[in-house]
Amino acid sequence: MVDVRVGIIGLGSVGQGVVKILSDNISLIQKKTNAKISIIGVSGKNKNKQREVQINRYQWFDNPISLAVNVDADIIVELIGGEDGIALQVVESALKAGKNVITANKALIAKSGNYLLDLAEKNGAKLLFEAAIAGSIPIVKTLKESVASNTISAIYGILNGTCNYILTSMEKEGMSFDDALKRAQELGFAEADPTFDIEGYDAAHKLSILSSMCFGQKIDFDHVKIQGIKAIELDDIRAASDYGYTIRLLGIAKKNKDGHISQVVRPSLLSKESDLAGIEWEKNAVTIRGNYFKELLISGPGAGRYPTASAIMGDIFDIINNTNYPPLGTPLKALSKSSNEMNIETSRFYLRLLLPDISGTMASITNAMAKNGISIDDITQRISKKMKDKNLVPITIITSTTDFTSINKAVEDINKNNYSPTTPNIITIES
Ligand SMILES: NC(=O)c1ccc[n+]([C@@H]2O[C@H](COP(=O)([O-])OP(=O)(O)OC[C@H]3O[C@@H](n4cnc5c(N)ncnc54)[C@H](OP(=O)(O)O)[C@@H]3O)[C@@H](O)[C@H]2O)c1
Repeated sequence: MVDVRVGIIGLGSVGQGVVKILSDNISLIQKKTNAKISIIGVSGKNKNKQREVQINRYQWFDNPISLAVNVDADIIVELIGGEDGIALQVVESALKAGKNVITANKALIAKSGNYLLDLAEKNGAKLLFEAAIAGSIPIVKTLKESVASNTISAIYGILNGTCNYILTSMEKEGMSFDDALKRAQELGFAEADPTFDIEGYDAAHKLSILSSMCFGQKIDFDHVKIQGIKAIELDDIRAASDYGYTIRLLGIAKKNKDGHISQVVRPSLLSKESDLAGIEWEKNAVTIRGNYFKELLISGPGAGRYPTASAIMGDIFDIINNTNYPPLGTPLKALSKSSNEMNIETSRFYLRLLLPDISGTMASITNAMAKNGISIDDITQRISKKMKDKNLVPITIITSTTDFTSINKAVEDINKNNYSPTTPNIITIES
């Protein structure tokens, strides 16, 4: 039986989960790995903080860098979070010291993954990050191992449990966006500062890593087009439902006909019959399209203490078993430079506008659409007492296939003739 020494840096939700799994399931883990895994040190911000796991029996390090560098550890687990600062310093210094590192930090990998993976290789260390994407869903392993022989044409899915929880609460329980967010925070599905989640950045971090793995390019977070869910109102959820759709925040990366990759995170109208529409609450799901297996959908808990800690444990097993898959699926030297482009694809769109309740409004909309070459599949004037009191009417439109530029021009034209007090909601309808 080999000895494996693990240092855990960050003892919040996920860090405590790892400590708990390593103590509660140790005999099963030992049997499967033939290794005696011991926690040789832990570090957090505040030693005296009340925690749900016993940490007194482990050596405490006030300075996480000291644990990352000076201690004879085989694996350093970074669970602090944040795209730079102390998390970056910990990972960087551990790798420079030749230590294997496991992290759940998608922001860090999205922003500095190219550099850190190179640093790991130069120092003969491993940097693994299964837990950074979609919690317990083994999407990183699936891409670098199981489907590696396929040419991937697209990867898409629900990559943020907080947004999915909010959208499902609005849809199932008629809650407002703010109330749904508040409940997500109370239940621990959303952070006190939910900006990264609701503005789409968290999903974009994950998408940029997946996209690199699928298309053999360096990670390119800067070319993810991002639209969050902040502007989605209950009226949109209801109107979408009337049209037979559900709204989900999707991350989509695909290879276009010209060979360029587009990466986009955006709320999307999905047919209620589609697989992803059935992914509810805090669940995540990822679909991959490959030339041999065609389509594969994996779903499950996308975040949370134990699902995420369980993915961390999977990476610990990989290090013990000395599996040697390239961390991004393609050897770093063979990764091409990014050829990403901002998304210019066409699709059908849903629009919701608030316009003055005066005659001629409908005609001005249809004229503006026609002027920009857009056919309207449906236009519905909705009844809202609140808006009627303000002498406004909500109007929803489903267009036929067009592009964002034409839609934006049409909305500009409508605004020239009318008064639209809120930014119109424009949501892509996924085919
Ligand atoms: N929570 C999830 O469901 C989930 C899912 C997937 C990925 N992740 C990722 O996992 C990572 C950890 O997330 P989390 O939810 O566990 O975070 P968390 O609950 O906020 O815990 C962060 C931990 O980092 C420690 N810390 C902060 N600053 C530090 C410093 N300067 N030195 C040492 N320790 C410091 C904190 O110490 P104190 O406890 O002493 O304050 C705390 O234990 C993040 O990268 C996150 O994105 C989380």
